[in-house]
Amino acid sequence: MKIGIVGGTGDIGEGMAMRLSPFYDVVVGSREQDKAEATCIMGREQLLKRGKTCSLNGVTNQAAIDAADIVILAIPFKHVAGTLATLHGFENKIVVSPVNPMEKQDHFVFVPPNEGSAALMIQKMLPKEARICSAFNTIAANKWKALDEELDYSVPVCSDDADAKKEVMAVVNRISHLKAFDAGPLSVSSMVESLTPLLLNIARYNKMRDVGIRFH
Ligand SMILES: NC(=O)c1ccc[n+]([C@@H]2O[C@H](COP(=O)([O-])OP(=O)(O)OC[C@H]3O[C@@H](n4cnc5c(N)ncnc54)[C@H](OP(=O)(O)O)[C@@H]3O)[C@@H](O)[C@H]2O)c1
Repeated sequence: MKIGIVGGTGDIGEGMAMRLSPFYDVVVGSREQDKAEATCIMGREQLLKRGKTCSLNGVTNQAAIDAADIVILAIPFKHVAGTLATLHGFENKIVVSPVNPMEKQDHFVFVPPNEGSAALMIQKMLPKEARICSAFNTIAANKWKALDEELDYSVPVCSDDADAKKEVMAVVNRISHLKAFDAGPLSVSSMVESLTPLLLNIARYNKMRDVGIRFH
């Protein structure tokens, strides 16, 4: 199984690449191939230091999509539409959105697009054969990158495509102590996306760091 990460050089993409590449072939995408390659060199070093082998390679965003069975869109909400407009080949791919549309005012606020959520906007922009899921919205980048710590969180996964959702939940459950929960159809993604500004506000007002969620 190949996983491509569009914007995989970023805060969350880097950590995801390191966590996923011991189990899956991971291709990190970027607007600049050199930047993706540098991220992968660093990631391979970090994993090697911990005695882990991996399959981790840096390419362009388009090459990451072309190579992948599952594409993770690890880009800030404000750049999603512009980025997707430059890319193609999403037909029959599972496309995972961890994207949270929010703004920092006095505190963090959920600011969804007209479609109701980033995931629904992405679904509207991509060909109807793309199999859209939302997942990984509520895990902080610092935690992804802290390779010596377990990730002990619940991960709500939304999709209208039952088989795609099952595959994404299996990927989630492969990583550290993450536990995937079926959160329902893609329309539920607005509720999941809105959790992140809530978590950031809780962190801020309670002087906590990297707050996450666990259902039990
Ligand atoms: N950070 C978190 O803790 C966290 C947690 C949960 C979910 N998320 C979600 O994950 C997504 C990525 O967050 P992030 O913090 O990793 O973002 P980020 O580090 O700010 O950016 C990720 C990547 O997006 C690409 N990018 C930046 N500006 C761009 C532009 N103008 N056009 C096209 N691509 C551009 C860059 O890749 P290249 O320069 O290599 O092209 C960059 O490395 C967001 O939607 C966020 O809501 C983040």
